[in-house]
Amino acid sequence: MDPLYLMLRNLTSPVVAITTSLEGRRNAMIVNSAQRASLVPTVPRVSMYISKTNLTHDMIWRSGVFGMHLLRTDQWDVIWRLGLRSGRDGDKLAGLELRTGASGCPLLADALVALECRVVNAMDAGAATFYLGEVVEAVPGAPGPVMTSDYFRTHMPPDRKAQYEANLARAQAQLEQLARRVDPARRWTGPTSHP
Ligand SMILES: Cc1cc2nc3c(=O)[nH]c(=O)nc-3n(C[C@H](O)[C@H](O)[C@H](O)COP(=O)(O)O)c2cc1C
Repeated sequence: MDPLYLMLRNLTSPVVAITTSLEGRRNAMIVNSAQRASLVPTVPRVSMYISKTNLTHDMIWRSGVFGMHLLRTDQWDVIWRLGLRSGRDGDKLAGLELRTGASGCPLLADALVALECRVVNAMDAGAATFYLGEVVEAVPGAPGPVMTSDYFRTHMPPDRKAQYEANLARAQAQLEQLARRVDPARRWTGPTSHP
């Protein structure tokens, strides 16, 4: 593997579950690009980048809401359900216990913490969009060790690892050209529809 790519893996953040909804349709995915994005405790914010090819990307762009969930190391099932296939192929949230936040966004009932967020800005990143979100509510769940990216990589079962790596390689090939074309003029001007 590319040595710089491997080195940059040291910067990956925990594996978190992202939920959203648009016009009553719900969806969710997994990201390892979530960051705390504010030093001010009274203004809690998070950021993440989401590839434009993912259904969740467009749903968040239009509805302006998302849920971010820190997962425990026993929550593999959530990662495989949400992170290996697209919501275009079916409702990935079916079978998971949910609640609806004040914004209308669906939130996972079982997580280390569920953060309900509203988008406050977004930046074009070529193949992806960086979303900056305001945390409007934080609901702690059952405690446990956090699913870090390092834990995820070192404890994945071999069959899932093969599937995950094949998906990753496919996404990287698909995104390569798009990644080169950052458009600073592409602005997020607020939600254009409802959750
Ligand atoms: C561990 C892990 C980390 C991931 N990190 C990201 C990420 O940071 N950004 C992203 O766009 N996709 C990421 N993905 C891929 C999406 O979760 C995946 O493409 C998902 O199927 C998208 O679903 P959707 O089309 O329903 O939105 C990750 C997947 C896994 C399993």
